[in-house]
Amino acid sequence: MLSYFLLGFLTHLLAVASDDGGITGPTTSSDAAGYSCDASKCKLPTCNCASTSPPGGLKPSDVPMFIVFTADDAVQSYTLDSVNQFLAQRKNPNGCVPKMTYFTSLMYTNYTLVTDWFMAGNEIADHTMTHVGDPSVDEINGNAVALNALAGISQSSLQGFRAPFLNYSVNTLKRLYAAQFTYDSSATSSIPVTDPGTDAFWPYTLDYGMANDCLEVEGSCKGQPVLPGFWEIPMYAFFDELGVAGPHLMDPWLDAPNGGSKPDDAATLTYMKDTFTAHYNGNRQPIGLYTHPIHLSTTYPGVNASKSTIDMINQFLDWATAQQNVWIVSNEQLLAWVKNPVPVSQLNNVDALKCTPPQIDASAKICNGIPNNENGLLSHCTFPDFSFSTCVSQFSVSLCSQPLNDFEYGCPEVEPTLSNPNPAQQVPDGLQPRFRLPANCSTAFWDPIGNKCLCASDSCAFTDISRPIGPAGANFTGGGTGGSSNGIPQPSSPAYVPFSAGVSQLSGLSHLVLCASVGLLFGIVECSKHF
Ligand SMILES: *[C@@H]1O[C@H](CO)[C@@H](O)[C@H](O)[C@H]1NC(C)=O
Ligand SMILES: *[C@@H]1O[C@H](CO)[C@@H](O)[C@H](O)[C@H]1NC(C)=O
Ligand SMILES: *[C@@H]1O[C@H](CO)[C@@H](O)[C@H](O)[C@H]1NC(C)=O
Ligand SMILES: *[C@@H]1O[C@H](CO)[C@@H](O)[C@H](O)[C@H]1NC(C)=O
Ligand SMILES: *[C@@H]1O[C@H](CO)[C@@H](O)[C@H](O)[C@H]1NC(C)=O
Ligand SMILES: [Zn+2]
Repeated sequence: MLSYFLLGFLTHLLAVASDDGGITGPTTSSDAAGYSCDASKCKLPTCNCASTSPPGGLKPSDVPMFIVFTADDAVQSYTLDSVNQFLAQRKNPNGCVPKMTYFTSLMYTNYTLVTDWFMAGNEIADHTMTHVGDPSVDEINGNAVALNALAGISQSSLQGFRAPFLNYSVNTLKRLYAAQFTYDSSATSSIPVTDPGTDAFWPYTLDYGMANDCLEVEGSCKGQPVLPGFWEIPMYAFFDELGVAGPHLMDPWLDAPNGGSKPDDAATLTYMKDTFTAHYNGNRQPIGLYTHPIHLSTTYPGVNASKSTIDMINQFLDWATAQQNVWIVSNEQLLAWVKNPVPVSQLNNVDALKCTPPQIDASAKICNGIPNNENGLLSHCTFPDFSFSTCVSQFSVSLCSQPLNDFEYGCPEVEPTLSNPNPAQQVPDGLQPRFRLPANCSTAFWDPIGNKCLCASDSCAFTDISRPIGPAGANFTGGGTGGSSNGIPQPSSPAYVPFSAGVSQLSGLSHLVLCASVGLLFGIVECSKHF
């Protein structure tokens, strides 16, 4: 039987994911859009008119074909396992494992895994605290505050937002702008690129208002809302044999294609390839795999993801990435290229496409989102209906031979809520709270206990491990395949452990050992009464 926690999480995830963003037909028209933009005034990198042509006046043949990969909702070990089935074994043309964007909501998110996923190079973005449509300021900003406080993601890295159920309003966009987000990605491109009046625009700024979803979102379009420099990254639908009447947006593999009554992997693969080819042979607008990974999980108890669907998605990616100049990217990477578009022959110089892991001593004990480094430093924070892991102190572990997994240093005193997204930490008497990541340090190098940035000198840095691409390099295509069609990928994260089972109590003896060690080393910390 599923535990209360597992069941609660599953029910929550399936409930939010099942209804998260379907469309049935065009969500705009050129009349409704009434869009006009002065391209002589609106110039990159800070302004871009909504256009079906590539940015920077590039010829389509000079433009990389981007496949944006996103996931929504809670981050848990099995949602990451699920994404890894599609990306972990692949390479982009520069030899880097593809990055993706995770739109994270607070409820049921395991903060430690958010840090890990971010440090592995992926983008973390905002999807509200409690997963509501047309979200309030507190829903949007509170989630960013919690991601910063509990996962150590800097506010400057949190650039993007997607509305739950893709339900956004003009006010949502204004709230994002006010909070200095860089982009929203909730709008739909709902008309095939091959149809007249297609709304498959390259990402654009709202200097001249919205050009997508004009039939759906009250008060948008016809020049509104004016949010200079704020980007919309439309979500590009796939279309089945019914064309504009057969759009498939999020988790297309769960839909019944071609007006049928049940999902059909073969037919889905066909229309996904067809839509991709229409983009690739046309103006190369990006295409997107917008996933709710819970539906494709093979490691979550009670979820029975279809193996043939997983194989089909990998077949699609194998097929697409075998073509020249195809890249799987995060929204952040896509936007970096759009802001400063260079032809494919110069992609070696685009920093955003590189893979640059931090160089940090593998033996360093620091909570930085790198499994080796933070091993033994994690703490379970348990609340009645909401639990997660976060970092414990370097202090406690470096002084003691035993990892102290129930030493709840860094856990908030109460659950984060809308009115209090960053509650005070639980701090045992005599110890100091964990210091939060400052703006001038990178997550990888921040020591939350020592309150110092380990990368203040030249002895530490990020190292570029990308390989050259293009004429000087081996090829214009990537490599690797998805894992499941010909060999099961190893889950990159440890198997799921429910919080209740993971929390043990320290014995009185351990307390004594800890206190004795601390006392011996420092001679000042009196801690016998603190546990
Ligand atoms: C969007 O969310 C708001 C607030 O939850 C709700 O009132 C509204 O009905 C939703 N709109 C749609 C189209 O679902
Ligand atoms: C999962 O689904 C497959 C068919 O897709 C079926 O053969 C199998 O029995 C199911 N397993 C469970 C535990 O429901
Ligand atoms: C970061 O800023 C703080 C003050 O806000 C300063 O004391 C510190 O030296 C800075 N660290 C680095 C690595 O620049
Ligand atoms: C890239 O490799 C593929 C398969 O190995 C080959 O068919 C293709 O011609 C190569 N392209 C270039 C530009 O080298
Ligand atoms: C959260 O992630 C940590 C680190 O991988 C893991 O030890 C813990 O079991 C996870 N908890 C849940 C509920 O997934
Ligand atoms: Zn969602």
